[in-house]
Amino acid sequence: LRVIVEGKPTEVRAVWFENNRVKMIDQRILPLEFRVLSFCKCSEVAEAIRNMTIRGAPSIGAAAAYGLTLAALSGENLETAANLLRRTRPTANDLFYAIDYMLHAIASGKDPIAAANAYADAIVEKCKRIGKYGSLLIRNNSKVMTHCNAGALASVDVGTALAPLRVAHDEGKNFFVYVSETRPRLQGMRLTSWELLNEGIPHAIIADAASGHYMKKDVDVIIVGADRIASNGDFANKIGTFEKAVLAKELGIPFYVAAPVSTFDFSIESGEEIPIESRSEDEVTEIEGRRIAPIGASALNPAFDVTPNKYVTSFITEIGILKPSEISELKMKR
Ligand code: MRU
Repeated sequence: LRVIVEGKPTEVRAVWFENNRVKMIDQRILPLEFRVLSFCKCSEVAEAIRNMTIRGAPSIGAAAAYGLTLAALSGENLETAANLLRRTRPTANDLFYAIDYMLHAIASGKDPIAAANAYADAIVEKCKRIGKYGSLLIRNNSKVMTHCNAGALASVDVGTALAPLRVAHDEGKNFFVYVSETRPRLQGMRLTSWELLNEGIPHAIIADAASGHYMKKDVDVIIVGADRIASNGDFANKIGTFEKAVLAKELGIPFYVAAPVSTFDFSIESGEEIPIESRSEDEVTEIEGRRIAPIGASALNPAFDVTPNKYVTSFITEIGILKPSEISELKMKR
């Protein structure tokens, strides 16, 4: 992740391990402030995942892997630590995948720091491969739409949905990105726009409600990330994804979902089984801590929605571009 800190270009990951501490960019205050937080307890990392200091499925997984590293180094009970981490956010499959990976690695005698670093490095490699496959889908002079932030911040580095855009940009392709702001936490406006600016990729932020307006006349392709993908190809992603996918099918716009295979949950058959996180009403009724809604009004705040497989053109993964129907074959091969 290329960022300009105090005027200097700097390479940094969303989360990493240094001097026996977990370090992460505080994604709650970007882009107004760039701050790196440092944690020495697994419980602090769990709280950072819960309060969205770090967010995005692969980054949440890596943070949990590093959290378990802290637990292992301080001799905590690993099952207790793992359960604490599992209770932070229910939807992203990568969280559970990373915790199982770490418990297995530590149980088989691996050094926890090395195992967690290997886990984070592997995510970055997978994202690079997603970028290579996905860039084939970005045509010169095209218009792309994305939702939420599935960039480097969300996946340790590089990104999932943003990886193809980075590669296409490096290849010299010209394209323009519509970034939907992503109410209520504004990951599109605050984080995706910030990443695209740092890369010099032309884009504009639009209100979520303006998506259809632009899709009708000016969008060639949509690429989003995913938090959990069921065996049949139904997938959960940030709230607002479903309506874009339905509209895309109606308007004949290809709709791609970029995610590593660790996001597939082969233990569930369909999207109906994906647990959907419900977050605080305040995220909807307040802006920057100030109540905007009438006092006494209540709000609903689901963090994700589920899009049925029939709206997905293909999944862009580190092993190639897969049709929803090919996922069950992948399951059989495991
Ligand atoms: O609530 P968030 O910000 O963690 O939600 C993030 C998303 O929905 C992303 O699109 C998804 O995790 C893919 S990230 C590469």
